[in-house]
Amino acid sequence: MKLSIGAVILAAGEGKRLKLNVPKPLAPCLDKKLVDFPIKELKKFFSQNKIEGKITAVIGHQRELVRPYIEKNYPDVAFAIQEEQRGTADALRSYFGSNELNDITKQFQYTLVICADTPVVSANELTEMFTLLTNEKLDGVAASFIEQNPKGYGRIVRGSAGFHIIEEKDATDEIRKISEVNSGLYILKTSYVLEHLKKIDSNNKSGEFYLTDVFKDGLNVKAQCFPDGDIFLGVNTLKQLEDAEWAIRERKKIELRDNGVRFIDSSHCYIDSEVEIGMGSVIYPNTFLTGKTIIGKNVTIEMGAQITNSIIDDGAKVLAYTILEGAHLRTKASAGPFARLRPGADIGPESKIGNFVEIKKSVLDRGVKVSHLSYVGDAFIGEETNIGCGFITCNFDGLNKQITRIGKNSFIGSDSQTIAPVEIGDDCFVASSSTISKSMPDGAFAISRGHQTTKEGMAKKFLKKK
Ligand code: UD1
Ligand code: CA
Repeated sequence: MKLSIGAVILAAGEGKRLKLNVPKPLAPCLDKKLVDFPIKELKKFFSQNKIEGKITAVIGHQRELVRPYIEKNYPDVAFAIQEEQRGTADALRSYFGSNELNDITKQFQYTLVICADTPVVSANELTEMFTLLTNEKLDGVAASFIEQNPKGYGRIVRGSAGFHIIEEKDATDEIRKISEVNSGLYILKTSYVLEHLKKIDSNNKSGEFYLTDVFKDGLNVKAQCFPDGDIFLGVNTLKQLEDAEWAIRERKKIELRDNGVRFIDSSHCYIDSEVEIGMGSVIYPNTFLTGKTIIGKNVTIEMGAQITNSIIDDGAKVLAYTILEGAHLRTKASAGPFARLRPGADIGPESKIGNFVEIKKSVLDRGVKVSHLSYVGDAFIGEETNIGCGFITCNFDGLNKQITRIGKNSFIGSDSQTIAPVEIGDDCFVASSSTISKSMPDGAFAISRGHQTTKEGMAKKFLKKK
């Protein structure tokens, strides 16, 4: 029988303590939103364990913003509405009682509960919990961890049979000293939750219905204590948000290092969760690698590089202080120092982009050199063509962007411009300082510059007298 899990993301709370102008599930976290993390990890967990799973987000506070965001990005996620935020148990009751979900929630063998504000949790922990639950035929598992500064978390109070979770507000001084805390992540048998959820009341200091009370009378439940507390960081404050982002990056760097990526000083590398980097690549400090960036093997990324949504093939080099956005640097090509590759820049194998060069929406074939101080936009440049220093494609006529085509094995002298639309053929030679406004056939030579006049001895007329 295929295992089935109904996964519930609690995302109805207000998140006042975060002091951001957005509902907490939509708070920024790395290049994503907080709620993206549990959704992505749940999907991974389902597919890794061949589980038939369904994700539901319980929404309430500012749901008019939260719902459209999730609907647009994850059309398969369902919703349950919690009208009033009366606690985490009440949130789960809204899930089981949801009209939209029509009782399917009760048909899953297991129910998993995760908060929208614990973005560091990964599919690995979910798998570990699920393995314990099924191997030991338990009714429920809560993930716990040791926190030296446990303020704000529910404490795990272990008894001879089972355990209780006591919230900070309701704890005695003695209980507050307990450093084992509740992560807010649970997997339970659905039949067990339904039976125990009924009994939960709001007789506590907050007057809220605590989901943690679901474990109170359980005899066949366990708190699984994980050694690394950073994994369950709950984001309630901006400091915790910063810590969670740090922890997600740390995890990412460990994973990359394990796969053969070398860091010169990883504490100053900022790599987002979806970035891929191949074996043998070296990453210098002060680098920002974000979005869907895919970096191949044996690539060097020097300091100060900022790379987003770009592809870098094997053996390529990004030299210091270079910016890539939506660009493709092919095998053994190099860019920088101080280069900028904008969206649609496609740099061919072994091509070389030098300092203070900007490339936008242009395809450069193999072995092209644009070594110094140039702007190339809306252009196609053929194999082995050499572009001299200070070249400009004048691509904008004030209304539209126009195309420049330059063939292969051509030589464009320094300080030249092409006035697009214009075409330069293969094996052409453009003399330095030329402005090319008329197309050139293959093998042509062009020069367009003012003639020089030299008048001997006349300089003193213009030089300032001492
Ligand atoms: C909760 C746990 C605490 C645990 C901590 C871990 C309870 C009672 N306490 O406390 O034991 O140590 O998480 O981070 O569960 N939410 C709703 N509806 C509500 C209330 C909350 O959907 O009515 C959602 C929030 O949006 C949030 C999650 O539930 O995503 C947790 O709520 P929060 O108020 O942050 O609980 P904590 O005080 O952190
Ligand atoms: Ca919380």
